[in-house]
Amino acid sequence: MKAVVYDRYGPPEVLHIGEVPTPVPKDHEILVRVRSAEVTKGDCEMRSFRFAVKWFWLPLRIFMGIRRPRKPILGGYFSGEIETVGAAVTRFKPGDAVFGCAGMRLGAYGEYLCLPDDYTIVPKPGKLSFAEAAAVPLGGLNALHFMRRARLQPGESVLINGAGGSIGTFAVQIAKSMGATVTVVDHTIKADLLRNLGADHFIDYTREDFTAGGQTYDVIFNMVARNNYARSIACLNPNGRYLTANPKLSDMIRSVLTSRFTDKTAIFAFAGETKEELLSLNTMIEAGEVRSVVDRIYARAQAAAAHHRVESEQRLGAIILAE
Ligand SMILES: NC(=O)c1ccc[n+]([C@@H]2O[C@H](COP(=O)([O-])OP(=O)(O)OC[C@H]3O[C@@H](n4cnc5c(N)ncnc54)[C@H](OP(=O)(O)O)[C@@H]3O)[C@@H](O)[C@H]2O)c1
Repeated sequence: MKAVVYDRYGPPEVLHIGEVPTPVPKDHEILVRVRSAEVTKGDCEMRSFRFAVKWFWLPLRIFMGIRRPRKPILGGYFSGEIETVGAAVTRFKPGDAVFGCAGMRLGAYGEYLCLPDDYTIVPKPGKLSFAEAAAVPLGGLNALHFMRRARLQPGESVLINGAGGSIGTFAVQIAKSMGATVTVVDHTIKADLLRNLGADHFIDYTREDFTAGGQTYDVIFNMVARNNYARSIACLNPNGRYLTANPKLSDMIRSVLTSRFTDKTAIFAFAGETKEELLSLNTMIEAGEVRSVVDRIYARAQAAAAHHRVESEQRLGAIILAE
């Protein structure tokens, strides 16, 4: 089969089309014909091996390959059709349209993807195209996980910092569906997109520091690695919650102290990305409560251009690689 591969860490141009063996599913595995895969900030970070949060570097380098990438095919989030199933698989049958996560197995930049049948893979919502569906799992699962951890109540206020990216665009919609008043912080080019998704107030981070205006919130959900922890905690109302998807090591230590010794709670977490959460998103999508936004679709042969687009920070929605 053909796949977008890379054999050294570096700029987008290290990505190229290669010929690799088509995987054969074992008894409890499925083979998916990948129709679309999201190109994520995480993919770009693994390709270049440059991370906003520095402590990721060593454990990930050991996992991904010290000298060169051990897993030559990137891609963690996809939609597609079941091609074949292993002898013991009962959850899926050939022809089923599905979407989900490849976890740290990666591989969604290939024509075919072989995964265990118990991974977070569920039926694709009928109303979404394959491209729209591939844009759901990363942002949707992470946003849902953190918004549930925030225990948002109707009428509460939430600020989402870095709201215009993959996770933030879903967090805005999920927070609105929970009845919150939503303030978003991102670059001015994302303002219309975020207002269309339901944001009540917009702050342009290039002109204004959200921690300097004197406004306070019940919940702050932060996606930005260089965000100031102490000033953010000071912007919380009594019993406020601070959640961060991108914690520095020092913020993780301070989170424990904040939660232990103050009336505020600070949560850093890695979202579990569960089947139950993806099925909840399916229900929210079918009900019209959340939707994915696709910026551009690239053919696999244009993978380098797709990575450039993600790194340009100009995109309004998800970048998709399609067959
Ligand atoms: N904890 C977990 O389980 C988990 C899982 C997945 C991802 N993550 C991490 O979560 C982070 C967000 O992921 P994502 O995929 O949503 O990233 P993303 O798509 O790159 O979104 C980040 C957004 O933040 C904006 N931004 C940059 N600097 C900002 C600033 N100073 N203030 C406000 N907004 C700013 C960016 O805008 P510009 O376009 O202007 O740069 C972009 O719209 C990533 O760093 C990722 O590594 C964590």
